[in-house]
Amino acid sequence: MTKIAIVEGDGVGKEVIPPAEEVLRFFLPDAEYIPVELGYERWLRTGVHCTDEDIALLKTTDAILFGAVTTIPDPDYPSIVLRIRKELDLYANLRPIIGPDFDILIVRENTEGLYSGIEWQERDRACTLRVVSERGTRRIAEMAIGLTKERKHLTIGDKSNIMASDAYFRGICTSMAEEANIPYRTMFIDALTYDVLMHPAAYDVVLTTNIFGDILSDACGYLAGGLGLLPSANIGEDHAFFEPVHGSAPDIAGQGIANPVAAIRSTALLLEHLGMKSEGEQVFSAVDATIREGMTTPDLGGACNTATMGQAILDKLLTEL
Ligand code: NAI
Ligand code: MG
Repeated sequence: MTKIAIVEGDGVGKEVIPPAEEVLRFFLPDAEYIPVELGYERWLRTGVHCTDEDIALLKTTDAILFGAVTTIPDPDYPSIVLRIRKELDLYANLRPIIGPDFDILIVRENTEGLYSGIEWQERDRACTLRVVSERGTRRIAEMAIGLTKERKHLTIGDKSNIMASDAYFRGICTSMAEEANIPYRTMFIDALTYDVLMHPAAYDVVLTTNIFGDILSDACGYLAGGLGLLPSANIGEDHAFFEPVHGSAPDIAGQGIANPVAAIRSTALLLEHLGMKSEGEQVFSAVDATIREGMTTPDLGGACNTATMGQAILDKLLTEL
């Protein structure tokens, strides 16, 4: 039986995951859904935010649907998302950004780079080690190249003019792209970030390192119409984890107005990962139709709340089948 972990997390995670879970239950009524509590609110209540048992449980599932957790800068509160990405070895973070005349797929290395977690403090400075390994680079490049073969072309984004670690990254990626004989180009990430906002249609698959992919995808939220719209998949050899690009949004949490689309589109990616490609496409179409009809939360100018927009999407799925 398909086993799916449901982690609502904190803040708007608790609001956007229930409608997303409904979409999953619609297509997978017989799957086993396992609620897992992780995050800051649990930490405030119990002093624990994520245990070894939680990680072990997540590892037993076929897929994880995750909302967002609040992170605080405290050495006793290491990032849950980074821990899960590392322990489940979810090395590829895929972030599609789709609009009327563009279809971009950010492929972000997800386990090393500046988020290596190797950090220390000295008397008068704090250091974070930026790690770019051959293995880490080869496997994310392979993923991006494989996806490019089904699409159009690849853009490799880095800062190889300044950092030796990125020159190393670029060197491996370009030689693999040459070998695979796919169309590719290289760009410096700062110029790329500007240019993708100016000319989104000129981009297809974009391959980059951890922190650059993180920042680039939020910037691309502008193209999509807001952070409440962008889904993501975190994929490894053995595990898969789906979450909105956005965080727990404490500024709007509790008001019931968070846009559920990023979470619902994440379920589309989850369904596709489980081999249910046409079901995933149905979810994307139902979301698009709902937005076109103006049945949206206030961030897109509509008068719906999270629940009514989620219901409108579910109704679309029901009537289209
Ligand atoms: P955020 O992504 O939570 O919010 C940024 C802006 O986008 C806010 O103005 C927010 O209202 C808006 N927004 C986010 N989701 C939305 C939605 N569904 N509908 C409408 N508007 C939405 O980023 P922020 O404020 O920097 O971080 C808040 C907390 O979330 C922090 O503790 C941060 O560490 C955490 N975070 C967690 C992530 C995760 O669990 N994967 C990812 C990013 C941040
Ligand atoms: Mg981010």
